[in-house]
Amino acid sequence: MSRHVMLLLSGPNLNLLGTRQPEIYGTDTLLDHVRAARRAATERGWDLEHRQSNHEGDLVDAIHAGIGRVEAIVVNPGALTHYGWSLHDALAAFEGPIVELHLSEPREREPWRHTSVVEPLATARVAGEGGAGYPRAVALAIDAALAAADDPDAGDEADRPS
Ligand code: DQA
Repeated sequence: MSRHVMLLLSGPNLNLLGTRQPEIYGTDTLLDHVRAARRAATERGWDLEHRQSNHEGDLVDAIHAGIGRVEAIVVNPGALTHYGWSLHDALAAFEGPIVELHLSEPREREPWRHTSVVEPLATARVAGEGGAGYPRAVALAIDAALAAADDPDAGDEADRPS
């Protein structure tokens, strides 16, 4: 049987995690977060592919390459969250569950961070939990994908964005 696969996308500047504004984003690196996310996926028998880019088009390409191939997407779009309409449109073309993920809680920060172009497409939103949000977002994505496939193993913890 073929493995379940999910895609974790990381937007601009997340490659600098560990040294970038640690008072907001903590001291763990992106690799630390990806490892935690992958561990959570592996425990449930899923593969996790990760792509980080500082360029919106690269993320759009990664989504296109995932269409029909990956079953769920977890995305921390970085600042593209707030204005990345081509990222929005690419995600809108993806048929599976999408979990929006942030280390911080953008709604509690500057007003320009309060808008999310991804949120209307998201099955769930995880924000303000720091690194702990990565495994949680993975679990929510798997639960949603299995529920959508009407799998009896699906979790019942479906989190809807408020
Ligand atoms: C972020 C929040 C965004 O507003 C910001 O531009 C980021 C990181 C987060 O993980 O908290 O780059 O997505």
